[in-house]
Amino acid sequence: MKIKSIIRGAGGFVPGEPVSNTDLIARGVDTDDNWIRERTGIMTRHIAPPEMMTSDMAIAASEIALKNAGVAAADIDLIILATTTPDNTFPATAMKVQTALGCTPGIPAFDIQAVCSGFIYGLATANSYLQTGLAKRALIIGAETMSRVVDWTDRSTCVLFGDGAGAVVLEAAPEAEASGRGIISSHLHADGRYGPKLYTDGGVAMNQRAGLLQMDGREVYRHAVTNLAEVVDEAILQNNFKYSDLDWLVPHQANIRILESTAKKLDMPMDKVIVNIDRYGNTSAASVPLALAEGMNSGKIKEGELCLLEAMGAGFTWGAVLLRL
Ligand code: ACO
Repeated sequence: MKIKSIIRGAGGFVPGEPVSNTDLIARGVDTDDNWIRERTGIMTRHIAPPEMMTSDMAIAASEIALKNAGVAAADIDLIILATTTPDNTFPATAMKVQTALGCTPGIPAFDIQAVCSGFIYGLATANSYLQTGLAKRALIIGAETMSRVVDWTDRSTCVLFGDGAGAVVLEAAPEAEASGRGIISSHLHADGRYGPKLYTDGGVAMNQRAGLLQMDGREVYRHAVTNLAEVVDEAILQNNFKYSDLDWLVPHQANIRILESTAKKLDMPMDKVIVNIDRYGNTSAASVPLALAEGMNSGKIKEGELCLLEAMGAGFTWGAVLLRL
């Protein structure tokens, strides 16, 4: 029996009040509002208070996703959490989510590290579990406290990132009952040769520290545009769809110009692209599920519509998931 993985509900969470570009100047960052808006499209981001950790935001987003899905925590049998800013080096942050939500002890729960593509990697992995009968109802989360890993003295990177979390509940359904809904295909890629273009200058094995984010912005930008253009083609054309079949693009929110470039390639008007970079900045692995949750919960994205989720991040990693909601 062929199984389809259907998204039953989504939730998003960002901490506290928005922090504007001007607020960053007041906090001592040598920048200006116009530069940030024009180069990136970012107007505000959210920054977690000191006592809040990645798990707290993951739990908050998951609670909303479970409620919207109408699924009890006890019915989840797999948790995958994508993050590059875990609470601890170990155990995985997914463990805290499992316990806090009251999920059944013993179900598999683990973290995935693919930086900004982490949620796409997590969704693809969960889909494989569901399709092979290893799980029936998965919680997939992207959650990040990027404010703790950026160098606040480096204006070329610190203004770009924000904190937050997004989550979805993915449920297995026999294809005959899925009415065409569910994940159609996933496409994951990685190329470690580009590690030095975007990395932290620390790590447990390297120097016992998390390190701070270092980025060659122009190189990342160049590869993002190319890699995303290729992976969206892969997802759409390999499934014999046309660009015009697509109802929604749900992209990783790194830079409004990268989003516009992908939309242009797909010949999609920007009102068919879920955009929240203006309010949240780049929330890394949380970015795609936050955008998806906003699209679904605002009523913009409707059941049965064809959606393309895509992301590119450090590694480089990149990927896409094509699904019918
Ligand atoms: N405020 C004001 N001026 C600034 C700032 C700032 N925050 N940051 C840099 N500048 C200045 C620079 O000092 C430089 O000035 P100079 O010419 O006098 O030396 C000037 O602006 C130009 O800087 P560039 O780096 O050339 O700016 P660019 O147009 O390349 O834009 C940006 C930079 C926005 C970072 C862009 O390269 C980009 O978006 N890259 C992609 C980033 C991305 O997608 N990351 C996603 C992956 S993240 C992940 O995986 C964790």
